[in-house]
Amino acid sequence: MQTASDRDPTQAPLEHLEEWEDFLKTRYPENAVAPAAQAFQAVDPNKQQEQFRNYEADARPTVREFYRLNHRHQTYDFVQGKKREFLGLSRRRMSVWEAIEFLNTLVDDSDPDTDLSQLEHLLQTAEQIRRDGHPRWFILAGLVHDLGKILCLFGEPQWAVVGDTFPVGCAYSDKIVFHGFFADNPDSRNADYQTRLGVYAAGCGLDQVHLSWGHDEYIYHVMKDYLPEEALYMLRFHSFYPAHREGDYTWLMNDKDKKMFDWVRAFNPYDLYTKSHQRPDVKALRPFYEDLISEYLPATLKW
Ligand SMILES: [Fe+2]
Ligand SMILES: [Fe+2]
Repeated sequence: MQTASDRDPTQAPLEHLEEWEDFLKTRYPENAVAPAAQAFQAVDPNKQQEQFRNYEADARPTVREFYRLNHRHQTYDFVQGKKREFLGLSRRRMSVWEAIEFLNTLVDDSDPDTDLSQLEHLLQTAEQIRRDGHPRWFILAGLVHDLGKILCLFGEPQWAVVGDTFPVGCAYSDKIVFHGFFADNPDSRNADYQTRLGVYAAGCGLDQVHLSWGHDEYIYHVMKDYLPEEALYMLRFHSFYPAHREGDYTWLMNDKDKKMFDWVRAFNPYDLYTKSHQRPDVKALRPFYEDLISEYLPATLKW
């Protein structure tokens, strides 16, 4: 069991993974209009820069250090290496529920109340989607969207599991928070990677684009043969805040991506704003979810 007291601050600056998500909530407060939704309104770029400076200044030192490591180490080559290392899915065979229980061994020993935190986040996300009357595959996407965080249990550092994702191999959007830390990324000195398109063709589609490595891409690959495409977009891009919240990187998208991002945006509030409401009754809910899982997924999956 990995606990906070085992933390190596060079690999795990956050006391727990939720610190990153708490930071996202301060950056994207509930009920605020997403900049992506204001794409055609005049947004004062100076004002936006100002806001980013505030988020950065107000961030906890642990969050700041987390972003420093993430932006320093997520290079194009690093992403290729992690894809080779993990996307063969040859580590384990587990059912979804076994993966949920495995993820739940990632506990935070600084707070005795959070021993169910990962499972609770997944159930709270799924339950709110269910309450809002969305299709069953949408509920299932809520249930499984963060299972890629088991990468932490395979020994991966936090900065290679969570964090807002961004394309590698092309210029970094100035809307990515802690943009200044990219100065220490070796790719920032590679001219081929620092044009707007970088190694990509305009409108090539996000399937051709390598995003910084983390739990989104991994869970997408685990699930990609089984879920509808809308759900797969939610899984694969839910941390791609520079695109789904900031409206950036549209020049890499094709028409299908642009359409499908409506689903990614529809998913985001369930991920970000359903925490800390009522604690779910795991025992009572499990039969519904076992049924839902078996409707779409085989009894065991490759991880
Ligand atoms: Fe996530
Ligand atoms: Fe989540």
